Amino acid sequence: MKLSLGVIYSLLVAANASSFASDTLQQILGPSSSVTPKAPPNFIFIITDDQDLRLDSMDYMPLTLKHLKQKGTFFSNHFVTTALCCPSRVSLWTGRQAHNTNVTDVSPPYGGYPKFVDRGFNENFLPVWLQSAGYDTYYTGKLFNAHTVDNYHSPYVNGFNGSDFLLDPFTYSYLNSTYQRNQEEPVSYEGRHSVEVITEKALGFLEDALGGVRPFFLTVAPVAPHSNVDASAIEGEAPTVMTEPIPLERHKELFKDVHIPRTEHFNPDQPSGVNWIRNLPQQDEATVEYHDHFHRQRLRTLQGVDELVDSLVTRLEASGQADNTFIIYTSDNGYHIGQHRLPPGKTCGFEEDIRVPLLIRGPGVPPDVTEEAVTTHIDLAPSIFDLAGIPLRDDFDGTPIPLPSAADSVRPRHEHVTVEYWGLGYLEGKRGRLSNPDNTPFTQNNTYKSVRIIGETYNLYYSVWCTNEHELYDLTTDPYQLNNLYTSAEVQILGHSLSQVIARLDALLLVLKSCKGSTCIKPWDVLHADGDVQNLQDALGKQYDRFYASQARVSYDRCERGYIPELEGPQEALPYSRYGLSWDAWT
Ligand SMILES: *[C@@H]1O[C@H](CO)[C@@H](O)[C@H](O)[C@H]1NC(C)=O
Ligand SMILES: *[C@@H]1O[C@H](CO)[C@@H](O)[C@H](O)[C@H]1NC(C)=O
Ligand SMILES: *[C@@H]1O[C@H](CO)[C@@H](O)[C@H](O)[C@H]1NC(C)=O
Ligand SMILES: *[C@@H]1O[C@H](CO)[C@@H](O)[C@H](O)[C@H]1NC(C)=O
Repeated sequence: MKLSLGVIYSLLVAANASSFASDTLQQILGPSSSVTPKAPPNFIFIITDDQDLRLDSMDYMPLTLKHLKQKGTFFSNHFVTTALCCPSRVSLWTGRQAHNTNVTDVSPPYGGYPKFVDRGFNENFLPVWLQSAGYDTYYTGKLFNAHTVDNYHSPYVNGFNGSDFLLDPFTYSYLNSTYQRNQEEPVSYEGRHSVEVITEKALGFLEDALGGVRPFFLTVAPVAPHSNVDASAIEGEAPTVMTEPIPLERHKELFKDVHIPRTEHFNPDQPSGVNWIRNLPQQDEATVEYHDHFHRQRLRTLQGVDELVDSLVTRLEASGQADNTFIIYTSDNGYHIGQHRLPPGKTCGFEEDIRVPLLIRGPGVPPDVTEEAVTTHIDLAPSIFDLAGIPLRDDFDGTPIPLPSAADSVRPRHEHVTVEYWGLGYLEGKRGRLSNPDNTPFTQNNTYKSVRIIGETYNLYYSVWCTNEHELYDLTTDPYQLNNLYTSAEVQILGHSLSQVIARLDALLLVLKSCKGSTCIKPWDVLHADGDVQNLQDALGKQYDRFYASQARVSYDRCERGYIPELEGPQEALPYSRYGLSWDAWT
């Protein structure tokens, strides 16, 4: 009988008495087993804020690459499901799509810390679950937006043995941050750099964690490289201006020759995308120059994080516990600057916004390896459960990612990412509003759903906007998403007409937009209960042409700032039946 260390540990926890547990283990493993019960693993989870993968920010983090990429696995197809801080973090810490958390924005009524609390997640998210599974849990840095100096105690965040949170309106103020420790009053760090402060706090919690008797889960969530926002800008009348981040003094002269990669989609001569993106003006020279500066400030600010990672790993290694600790490095969402003529920001479905770094090092994780399987932020809570040996929850919308575990071979993988967004698009930087005819640093009508799908022979992105505009990009031939195929009748994909491919993608999106639990992981099972279709390739079978052509289409009645299902078109997909819709294909 083969058991993962995690499963063994959960037996130990469940038995709640180590002598009894080892008897039980002995019975299960049998006398010939060579497995020696080992301590359950620790976790250090580092989550940056708005860090891109696509603009190559990781290339400027040599210490992180040395510790986590060379000694760990890089997940090269890792995606977020909502490209905005708060919804993405709530999804990450609950393992659920934003349409199932309904925390879809950064502030009430649709999001932020108050919405997280209202939805009951303060009693029901990863640290709470880990604590009850026997973990000591620690957190420092930004948890959620709208977690403020006024509401931090009503209620306090649950689930942590030690916490020291960045609080609004000072979260993004690099040189005047406010942190709030355990149940103490908030403390202002005016004049000190936020990343320097978090480094001290993180190392302090690491000492506490290493000194404990239980396994630990430590999260370090620096604000870098998010834009700087001064509190005075939030309290004033004018809409918040998000300006370039501020690096530590010792890093501010670095990378003087670096500029944003001049890819085909950087400030292109022709507009691209749909909706408000298609109306963006081409950026003038002064704007491009400022954006290059903005990019350099992000890379410089990340140097503080690179050193933070180095300090944590060095201390962990010195403690002798590195062999039993998983270190996970990621970001809450990606970032674009200048691609598709966009000012700095996230909130879009393009590759820059939804792809983020994911590096994992730990016991049994192969070093210096790139894993290409499609993975998402919704998969991370299930992955941590899996590694810790805790049985998965039914309400997880994700599934453990490929990591060493006895259960791996039987766990379903997926080739799709469900991307969803409601509300505003944010135009960051001092020149962001110049892109907008309304002269505001945000745009309306940024509500859309999409599916990103990567199979052996296809690499597609399909979206439906609240304006009922559509996009389809074939990233095999168009990696920069400049050529929207949706309206071009001539093209063939995978030897099929565009309308045949779109019919499948739309049906898949129809299932995914309201999926729950296992249907988010295996959406084709909803359409094909017989299990004959497991991926897009299978669904393209000619015998299904009529079935897919007759399926209802994803649509919206109008643009809304939040998740109002009644305005989001058909909710249920028709299941395929040999005897029903497509009987003619069967006979
Ligand atoms: C999501 O939250 C908003 C704001 O409270 C609410 O109007 C909406 O009905 C909720 N959606 C669902 C599906 O519960
Ligand atoms: C951490 O919190 C849990 C839950 O309250 C508790 O059982 C555990 O003893 C705490 N650990 C430490 C080191 O205080
Ligand atoms: C820094 O923040 C404190 C509150 O935490 C505030 O009183 C002070 O005015 C701020 N300083 C600056 C320079 O904005
Ligand atoms: C937003 O979309 C609606 C359709 O839902 C449209 O009528 C309106 O003009 C759009 N507003 C802007 C600012 O684009």
